[in-house]
Amino acid sequence: MDYSDNQTLENFRNAIEAKLSTIAKSYKPNSLYEPVRYAVEGGGKRLRPVIVLTACEAMGGNPEDALDAAVAVELLHTFTLVHDDIMDADTWRRGRESVHKKWNSSSAILSGDALLVLAYQSLMRTKTDDIATLLKLFNDGALGVCEGQALDIELENKEDVSNSEYLNMIEKKTGMMISMAVSIGALIGGAGSTDLKKFKSFGLALGKAFQLQDDYLEITSSKSVMGKSLGSDLTKGKKTFLLINALKMANEEQHDALKRIINKTSITSVELSHVRDIFEECGVLDLTKSIIKENISASRESLDFLDAKNRKDLLEITELIQSRKN
Ligand code: IPE
Ligand code: IPE
Ligand code: MG
Ligand code: MG
Repeated sequence: MDYSDNQTLENFRNAIEAKLSTIAKSYKPNSLYEPVRYAVEGGGKRLRPVIVLTACEAMGGNPEDALDAAVAVELLHTFTLVHDDIMDADTWRRGRESVHKKWNSSSAILSGDALLVLAYQSLMRTKTDDIATLLKLFNDGALGVCEGQALDIELENKEDVSNSEYLNMIEKKTGMMISMAVSIGALIGGAGSTDLKKFKSFGLALGKAFQLQDDYLEITSSKSVMGKSLGSDLTKGKKTFLLINALKMANEEQHDALKRIINKTSITSVELSHVRDIFEECGVLDLTKSIIKENISASRESLDFLDAKNRKDLLEITELIQSRKN
């Protein structure tokens, strides 16, 4: 995902990157903070902190005032990735080895814990006269991700999963964090409770589109472009929108082939492209694209209450998400 066509978003990203590079700079012991710094570096898109600053600006606030909160959201997100890679047994993240692979699970658990505390430290540096609401939004988002991750694991072992169960799970595991990012930025920019509700709806729909696109890219993209391990959704029994619907839409032969592949413990690149072909042939790739579009449209409509000038950059982010390749 590339912000370079939009100077504002590019500047936001640079400001976030500069601040992130100071996190836990010379902290000791290295056994804790090296994995922390390693996880924060790397090829992250910095989408959530960019959203914080953009939402602040959309409310007419000064994005500088939201920078510490933006960094807090990115640190929280990074913490979820470090732990998620343990849970999903994925060994590649942000273009290099996952923390638990490069070090070990104990280091990854502990550096994840430290990232969470560093996130709160950064959040508390925010100058606001409504720290209670700021904390509530952050906590609701963080707990929502935990609930979503729990459901993600629950669904691994469930045979028949409906689209609504899946959508509820991704609304929590991915939507809540994006919704929290937009709400926090808007709050710091001066949003009251009525506007916050609209920003939350925007974030939830956008987050769902983001996760659907992620499931789509897991099947259609590559490890080098995405910078992370792909294929584990299938072997770990993850219920993605693509798999749930392919099992309904496939003919008997395709259905049998899918069942055989997802019951394996590891998957070859030939099998992965076989799955991709089945998804394409049975129409599930097109269906996924159309659901992504629906969610993107719903997110954009939630911003109708803002002036065209103020919502421009947030709308641009929705387009970047819809067309993202990594
Ligand atoms: C990965 O998020 C986790 C999901 C919600 C799919 P990103 O794709 O935003 O990861 P980074 O921050 O760019 O590494
Ligand atoms: C995304 O999890 C949500 C969180 C990390 C909380 P996934 O497991 O679907 O995402 P990737 O594919 O590992 O980035
Ligand atoms: Mg994962
Ligand atoms: Mg996961």
